[in-house]
Parts: sequence; C-alpha cells; structure tokens
Amino acid sequence: MRPCVVMIFSLLVVFLEATTDNQLPAVGDGGGGDDNGVTTNKCLDKERDALLQFKANLHDPDGSLSTWRPEEDDCCAWEGVTCDDKTGYHVTQLNTNSAGLVGEISHSLVNLTYLNLLDLSSNSFHGNIPRSIGSLAELRYLDLSGNSFYGTIPPEIGNLTNLQELSLGSVGRCRVENLDWLSHLSHLEKLALDGISLAKENQWVDVVLSLRNLSSLSLDGCELSQVVYPYSSSFLNSSSSSISFLSLRNNNLNSSMYGWLSPLTSDKLRRLDLSSNMLDGIPKYLGNLSSLEALTLDYNSAVVRFPDFLKNLSSGCTSLTLQYLYAQTSQFTGSLPDCIQNFSSLSYLYLSNNHMNGTISEKLWELSSLEEIDLSQNHLSGAISENIAKSKASIINLSKNPLQGVPYTNHMSNLSYLDYISLSSCKLGPHFPKWIQKLEKLTGLDISNSRISDIVPPEFWDMQFSYLNLSSNNISGEIPYLSSSYGGSTMIDLSSNSFNGPIPHLPSSLELLNLSRNKFSGGISSLCQIVDGFLQFLDLSHNSLTGQIPDCLWHFKELKVLNLGHNSLFGKLPTSFKSLIKLEALYLYENDFSGEFPLSLKNCTSLTSLNLGANKFSGKVPVWIGENLSRLYVLVLRSNKFLGTIPLQVCQLPNLQILDFSRNNLHGSIPSCLNNLTRMAQKGFLPLPNVHPYSATQYFNNIYSIHPYRTYLEYVDHAMIEWQGSEREFTRNLGLLKSIDMSSNNLTGHIPYELANLHELLALNLSKNALIGEIPQQVGQMNNLLALDLSGNHLSGGIPTSMSQMTSLCYLDVSCNNLSGRIPSSTQFQSFQPSSYNGNAGLCGPPLSGKCPGDEELLVGKSDGDWEDMDEFWGWFYIGGGTGFVTGFWIVCGTLLFNRRVRHAFFQFFDNFKDWVYVKMVVFIAKLRRIVHK
Ligand SMILES: *[C@@H]1O[C@H](CO)[C@@H](O)[C@H](O)[C@H]1NC(C)=O
Ligand SMILES: *[C@@H]1O[C@H](CO)[C@@H](O)[C@H](O)[C@H]1NC(C)=O
Ligand SMILES: *[C@@H]1O[C@H](CO)[C@@H](O)[C@H](O)[C@H]1NC(C)=O
Ligand SMILES: *[C@@H]1O[C@H](CO)[C@@H](O)[C@H](O)[C@H]1NC(C)=O
Ligand SMILES: *[C@@H]1O[C@H](CO)[C@@H](O)[C@H](O)[C@H]1NC(C)=O
Ligand SMILES: *[C@@H]1O[C@H](CO)[C@@H](O)[C@H](O)[C@H]1NC(C)=O
Repeated sequence: MRPCVVMIFSLLVVFLEATTDNQLPAVGDGGGGDDNGVTTNKCLDKERDALLQFKANLHDPDGSLSTWRPEEDDCCAWEGVTCDDKTGYHVTQLNTNSAGLVGEISHSLVNLTYLNLLDLSSNSFHGNIPRSIGSLAELRYLDLSGNSFYGTIPPEIGNLTNLQELSLGSVGRCRVENLDWLSHLSHLEKLALDGISLAKENQWVDVVLSLRNLSSLSLDGCELSQVVYPYSSSFLNSSSSSISFLSLRNNNLNSSMYGWLSPLTSDKLRRLDLSSNMLDGIPKYLGNLSSLEALTLDYNSAVVRFPDFLKNLSSGCTSLTLQYLYAQTSQFTGSLPDCIQNFSSLSYLYLSNNHMNGTISEKLWELSSLEEIDLSQNHLSGAISENIAKSKASIINLSKNPLQGVPYTNHMSNLSYLDYISLSSCKLGPHFPKWIQKLEKLTGLDISNSRISDIVPPEFWDMQFSYLNLSSNNISGEIPYLSSSYGGSTMIDLSSNSFNGPIPHLPSSLELLNLSRNKFSGGISSLCQIVDGFLQFLDLSHNSLTGQIPDCLWHFKELKVLNLGHNSLFGKLPTSFKSLIKLEALYLYENDFSGEFPLSLKNCTSLTSLNLGANKFSGKVPVWIGENLSRLYVLVLRSNKFLGTIPLQVCQLPNLQILDFSRNNLHGSIPSCLNNLTRMAQKGFLPLPNVHPYSATQYFNNIYSIHPYRTYLEYVDHAMIEWQGSEREFTRNLGLLKSIDMSSNNLTGHIPYELANLHELLALNLSKNALIGEIPQQVGQMNNLLALDLSGNHLSGGIPTSMSQMTSLCYLDVSCNNLSGRIPSSTQFQSFQPSSYNGNAGLCGPPLSGKCPGDEELLVGKSDGDWEDMDEFWGWFYIGGGTGFVTGFWIVCGTLLFNRRVRHAFFQFFDNFKDWVYVKMVVFIAKLRRIVHK
C-alpha cells in the first residue's frame, strides 16, 4: 500500500503544478520566438551570452541543452528558452525541469532581466542559491525544488515582489535566517518550503497570513512541531486566510497544533494533508469547513478511534462537501459507524492497514456518491451486509479482514457499477460465491485465501477478467478455458488449489499466469496460445505436467519469470528461448530435461537467477556463461550429468552469490580464480537480488484513485540448497546467502588457497570429491563461514590451527580424509560431534576420545556433573531436524550469536527466537570453557 500513498500525494502535487502551468500563459508571454517563423528576430546577444555562460557552469550528461550552441544565433529557439516578441525578443522564460543538469547556478542569469518564469526543478544543482536571483524583478514563477542546494535561502528573493509562485520545497539542505523577506511577496499564490526547518520561525503563521493571495501552502517536513505558538494575537481576530490547499506532512505534529492551525483553515480550504504526524484525533472545527473536499491522514502514528474521528468530522458542513478521505497505514481503531451516512459527497474512502475492529455500518453501502472503498487490512468482522448490493461503487476492497461471506440475494445484480472487488482472506467458503456471476461489469476479482472448498460453476469461466485471483483455496475440478479480458492484458492466479485435468485453453492477452501447486496434468502446448506479447510472469510449478516445452516462445519478449519446476517435463529447451531477452529468473528444478546446457540461453542476458538443478542435462558447462550471463547471482546446476572441467569463465560472474555444481560428473581441479567472485569476497548484498517486480503497471480512474490490483507485484526466487547434509528450501532469505557447493563430483587436485579470499562466504561444500593435499592455512581467514564440509576426500596433514579463529563456524565436517594431528582447541572445534572428524585415523584430542600423545592428563579432574549437563545440551543442540529449517538452523548454529553482523544480515527475520538460544548458549559456553581449560 505504501507506494500508493506516495503516489497519491505526488499526483496531488503534479495536479497542482499542472493547473499552475495552465495559468501561466495568461500571466504574460506571447509564445516562443520560433513559432513566429521569422528568422530575422534573433535574441539579444547579451542574453544569449548569459545563457551560454549558464550552460558553461553545468554538466549536461543527458544532452538536454544540446540545442544551446554558440553557432546557433537564435537563442529563442533553444530547448527550454522562451522569448516574447512584445518585449522585443527578450528571454522571458527558462525551463530546464528534470533535465539532468549538474552544477551551480551562474550569476549570468541576472542579465535575463525580462525573465518571468524560472524553473530549474528536479535537477542536481548544488552550491548556494545565488543572491543575485533577487534582481530578476519580473519573475512571477520561481521553482528551484528537487535539487541539492545548501546554505541560506537568500532573503533577496523578497525583492521579487511580482512572484506568484515560489517553490523552494526540497531544494537540498537549506535553511532560512528568518521569514521577513517572505512578507514582501504580496502577490504570492503558491508557496512550498518543504524540508526547510522553520523550527525557529515563531511567527511563521503571521507571515503566511499576511500573504493575502496565498491559496496553496506546502510545509512538509519543516519541523513545525518545535514551534510553540507560531503567531501573534493580532491575527486571531482578523479575517481568515485564503488558503485552499494546505499540506503539513511529516512534521511530528500532535494535537496541540490545532491551537495554531485554526487561522489557516478557513471556509476556503479545499484540501488538507496532515499525513505522517502524531495526531490523536481532529477537533470539531474541522467538521465545519464548508469547502473541504479532501482530507488525508495517512501514516499517522497516534491511536485514534475512528467513530470519534468521524463524529467530529461530521459535526458541521464538512460532511456535505468531503469527497476524499484518505487515512491509510495509521492507527485507527473501532468500527465504521453509522454516521458515515452523513457524508453524502464521499466518493473515495481509503482506510486500509489500520486496526479497526467491530463491524462495517450498512449505511456505507447506501452512500450514493461512493466510487472507491478500501477497508483492507483491518480487523473488521461480522457478515458483509446484503446491503452491499445497493452500492454504486466501482472498486471495493475488503481483503484481509475476518469478515464473513456475502449473503446470496437476487439483488446482487444491482451491483452493476462494480469493476473490482477483493475479498481476499475473508471467510467466504466453503461454497463458491455464486453471486459473483451476477456482476456484469466485473473485470477484477480477488477471492484468494478465502476458505473455498468447492468446484467452480462452468458459467464462471465465461466472465472476462483482466485480473482474477482464486489462489490459496481448495478449489477443484477441470477448467474448460480461461477467457480474455475486454481489452488490454489479463492476469490470472489460480495457484495453490486442487484444479486438475489439462492446462485450459489460454487467452492470448495473458500478462500473468500462475497455475502452480495444483494437480494439472498433460502437456503445456496451450502456452502457444499466448501471442499478444504481454506475458511477464509464468509459473506452472508443482503440478504433474509432462511433455516437452513447445517451440513457440517467440512472443515472450516481455517474460521476466519462468517457473516450470517440480513437474515431469522432458526434452531439450527449444530454440525460441532465444527470444526471452528480458528473462530474469528461470527455474526448471526437478524435471527430466536433457541435452547439453541450452545454447539458446546465450541470448537471455537479463538472467539473474538460473536454476537447472535436478534434471538430466549433460555435456560441458559452456564457456560463454561468463560473458553472456554476467548478471547471475544464482547458478544452480546440481544433480545433473554435467561433465568435463569447471570453466574458468565462471569466475567472471561478479554478482554470483550461490554457485551450486554439486552431484554432477565434473572432474579436474577447482579453479583458483574463484577469488574473482567479488560478491562473495566483499561485504554487502545487492539490493534484493531475489525479488523480481513483474507488474508495476498502474492505471487511474482519476488523479486520486489507483486501481489497487495494479500497483506492485513481485516474485521471490527460491532454491533448494543442500545445507548440513539435507536439502532445504531457501525463500526470502536466499538473497542473503553466499555459498559454493561442488560436492559429489570427481574433482581432483588441491583446494586452492585463493578460495580463502572469499571472506563473505557463508557455506562451502567440497565434500565427496577426490581432492588431495592439505587444507590451506588461509582458510582461517574465512571468518564469516557458517558451514564447511570437506568430508570424503583424500586430504592430508593437520587441521590448520588458524581455523580456530573461525568464530562463526557452526557446522564442520572433515570426516573420511587422511587428516592427522591434534584437533585445534577453540570454542567451536570441541563443540562439533566426534563424527565430524571420524574416518581420519591420525586425528586426536577432544572431542574425539582418542588422546594425542602426551595428553594423558588433559581431562583429568573433569566433574561428571559438567559432562552430564553437556549431554543434556547436546540433546537440544542437535534436534535440528523436524522443526523446520529456521528453528533447526538456529539450534545447530547458536554460535552465530557471537557474530552480530552476520546474525543481523542473515536472520533479521527470525529475531524472536534468538533470546532463548542466547541464554542457553551463554550458560553452555561458560561450562565448555571450564571443561576445556581445566
Ligand atoms: C551582463 O552582461 C554584460 C554585457 O554583456 C556583461 O559585461 C556582464 O559581465 C554580464 N553580467 C554577468 C553577471 O555575467
Ligand atoms: C533587495 O533585498 C535586500 C535584502 O533583503 C535589501 O537589502 C535590498 O535593499 C533589496 N534591493 C532592492 C532593490 O529592493
Ligand atoms: C476492538 O478493540 C478494542 C481494543 O483492542 C477492544 O476493547 C474491543 O472490544 C474490540 N471490539 C470488538 C467489537 O472486537
Ligand atoms: C537476441 O538478443 C538480441 C539482443 O538482445 C536481440 O536483438 C535478438 O533479437 C535476440 N534474438 C532473438 C532470436 O530474439
Ligand atoms: C581474475 O581477476 C584478475 C584481476 O582482476 C584478472 O586479471 C583475471 O583475468 C581474472 N580471471 C578470470 C579467470 O576471470
Ligand atoms: C574420477 O576420476 C578418475 C581419474 O580421472 C577416474 O579414474 C574415475 O573413474 C573417476 N570416477 C568417476 C566416478 O567418474
């Protein structure tokens, strides 16, 4: 929901700017010099020089000012420059909004004496705002927002007495000495000072009220909470302000601000935005504003009872004018009360992600103006009233509330305006809601996770959805066909149900198709029906599909995610994979695909996650992987029949975090260049490499409204990884893993010491190969390593003493080698089970029972009590199995607690578990120290 809110607000700003832009031509100019067609009218040399000087001060990486050339005499024809013939071809407007310019503003601008508009917004200007700007006496419109200026806002701006619009919002890290200069701008209509601290401006309300023409005021993030009583009493009796748009977001305001807000809120006020504050309610006078159309109170951090809030808001005439009420992601409690019926103009009601409980008043559905309702993510309960049939709304979102289903009545067909309804995670089941078929105009339906355990009536499949989500129910039966939407693309999610039979006939306009975790069987040739080229996301995993992938993917140029894992598909990947040039994630794990490493993937240069594991691929790992798939962060080829050597080009994948070549027939040595895998050697993670946003398309009914089902969807990579002897599924935290697994091949030679440079590696598994030589001394540098498995090789020599520094290590297996000598002592090394060291005839010392020569007295004097406690500890220390990966891992890997950084990065999601383990560990480690050092 967060992006929506931001969106709404930025749209609001855009809207205001759009209106002002429209007004501007009326303010003065007679059009640009070039629409005259007369070339003799050249701009003035002095002004031309001033513009060239302005450009000379800047970097212009986007080439936005490329038309500004000394050899082009007529500067009036330059991009962003407007001249006016009435003034004798003086430059009157300079607009380089969002031009990507970097640098400081040149003083030469003072020579553009006729300038009435200067818009430098949304660039990367830095330095001070030049004081000389105050000499551009004709300026009516000045916008410097969205830059990186610093220093003091020059009070000379107060000399620009013709200014009608002034935007210094988000100009960078600027401050104001005082606001006296502002009171000179008596023509000012619009003012934005967002992000500039007014904490010391005890009189700012006075100043603002003195601007008699001001209609729009934005003071977001101005630290207004620090101003105690920001006006003198002289204004209390004077006539009220002319402000119609007022935004005071993000000021830490609490309700004491209503003391000074009142002179600013007159009957002229149309839009009020108080988001991101700490208001514990609203005063009654806000219910008396006879023009208020929009009230926004998103991200408010104080608890407010919604019935009280609504009561105050409906105490006067505001209830007759209010059209937009936005209060999302705040702390509203209580029910949606009957007094909602007073809001006869209400069109948009957005209350998602609050703590509202109790019931939804039936009166809500009788409001004749209501078009969009979003009450999702609250605790509203009770049955949805059959009055819902009276609503004229086009969008209804009640998802994620413990609401009961909608009773079936014949009136449901009256919901003829309804375009989209979401009842996701409400209690609709067990029967499929038949009233849905009565909704003739419905194009979006989300009834996922709503406890339906039924079959779908056949007529339902005739409905034409652009978005259909039936996922996470227990719906069964065959699907005859999926219909396409009326126009545009189609998104269908039927995942996690019990649908069976063949993949249905598919609409050509699919953008998203998720049929995963069902019981579909048969072939997948119906994919060839998707020819419109919208497809971004295709997930058919966890079904019983067989056959080959049809060679018809030529239209899938937008495809980002393809998941066919956990089926019985076979054959080679078809040539048309070449056209998947935007593919980011390919997951084919656990099928019967065969043939060589697919050559057609050479063209899939956007791939970041490639998982071909658990198939029957054979042949060599191709050398082009390094060049063509350089964005990979996951490369999983485990459990195939790949042979040959590991190509050095694998080292050219700088983002690689997960390299899994295990269970193949690879031979030769481990490339020493693996230390070139910089992501494993350096700190830090790519920002969410495992999250693939695949539809951020948004479309709007009007400037305030967002179709909720179009905002943001994402796919998160997952992978089966062998972890400490068994396969585990990594999902959300896959992006935080850094591991190399080359186990169960036929690799020979030494372990290259360069591997030790991969300081950030968390797991290294080289077990079950034919490696020889010693464990490199440098391995001890890998101090983030959690799991190290070198078992089942021919390694010889001792365990390097440097390894006792590996304080994060919580799983070690060096069994079945030819190692010898004493096991180094450290907290870790003695805490591993003896089986970690078994099968090395020459190893000695704890935890093995075999003593090293000369160690006779080492354990003499241990108290039986200590060892008993330890046995008890081992009992829970090793219960890692059945309780799920997270729990198991935590228990086995308690030592993590001593490396805060790794712990935070890797386990930030599972925090509440740690305290318990921590207490246990502290007690245990203390005991262990006593025993070992005795
Ligand atoms: C303004 O133009 C005059 C005449 O071309 C020039 O001498 C002067 O340096 C310019 N001023 C600035 C600040 O560039
Ligand atoms: C411009 O503003 C400055 C500072 O506010 C002031 O000292 C100066 O007199 C003003 N100049 C004109 C021409 O008004
Ligand atoms: C709503 O929540 C409040 C506070 O948690 C609780 O006291 C009240 O009983 C709840 N009301 C309903 C109808 O569940
Ligand atoms: C392969 O990729 C290139 C560059 O991305 C693209 O121009 C070409 O059309 C692709 N080939 C096919 C068969 O789609
Ligand atoms: C590894 O990196 C070094 C230094 O950046 C470079 O010279 C070498 O060619 C790289 N090796 C491979 C196989 O990519
Ligand atoms: C492993 O490699 C050796 C030497 O190249 C060879 O003799 C042996 O047969 C290979 N083992 C397997 C299982 O491929």
